[in-house]
Amino acid sequence: MWCPIVGGMGRKRIWIMLAALGALYMIGRRERREARHPVEYEMDEPVIAETWTGVAGRPIMRPLWQMVARRATQGGVFPRVLDVGSGAGFLAVELAQRPGVETVAGVDLSSDMVEIARGLAEMRGANATFYQVDAASMPFDDAAFDLAVSTLSLHHWRHPMPVLQEVYRLLSPGGRLMVFDLRRDANPLVLGLAAVSARFFMPGPIREMGEPLASFQSAYTPSELTLMAAQAGFQQPEVKSGIFWQVLVASKPA
Ligand SMILES: C[S@@+](CC[C@H](N)C(=O)[O-])C[C@H]1O[C@@H](n2cnc3c(N)ncnc32)[C@H](O)[C@@H]1O
Repeated sequence: MWCPIVGGMGRKRIWIMLAALGALYMIGRRERREARHPVEYEMDEPVIAETWTGVAGRPIMRPLWQMVARRATQGGVFPRVLDVGSGAGFLAVELAQRPGVETVAGVDLSSDMVEIARGLAEMRGANATFYQVDAASMPFDDAAFDLAVSTLSLHHWRHPMPVLQEVYRLLSPGGRLMVFDLRRDANPLVLGLAAVSARFFMPGPIREMGEPLASFQSAYTPSELTLMAAQAGFQQPEVKSGIFWQVLVASKPA
């Protein structure tokens, strides 16, 4: 039977496409790591702030920040919000505009990121304040926040347990934690694509960092993340995952 898509593409092209997908899959399987391999570069380099702001600030990324802000605040009232590893501040400013949110604090290791985030909050008129600190030791009182969020930062934390324990300390009883990140055990096709991009298609500085593959290899699996959240004291940690991402939602006992 003649199919317009297959017929229109021609058999040769279909074979080339299948071969390319097969090759990507094999590369992805080879690059998939059993054990975590932390990224080797330092996060507070100015080039990282510049590069990441370029990625995170693309119009195509805004629906992601809006979706995370909406889901993080769903079904509860969270006046005081903490964004851990807030980067250029795109999520923090979306959160500041959610109903019921009164203040947002963003913390980040990188002074360049913090400067960029402050500029963004000012430009958008958002009530978000940014601090240059290590998330393993944050300058806030116990129970200072009702909600803590973090996106694409967890896999960069040198010591994740102290950060999770610190977030636990900072949340009020019944407070919520939501963490969005990559997963190390992503689908091999995605890992293959990340490996080929890292080698051939990324601009100079990103290629030198080995990104985006390095971040996948530095990420946790959903079961590792669930275990870490439980060990930090969080109740009913639940991770939902897709082919390359995962979202943890957990709460501090009331
Ligand atoms: C890939 S960026 C993501 C930024 C932002 N959350 C976003 O989704 O656009 C990772 C951020 O985590 C920050 N970071 C890494 N380790 C950190 C730590 N221990 N404490 C605070 N921030 C950290 C980095 O400086 C960087 O800005």
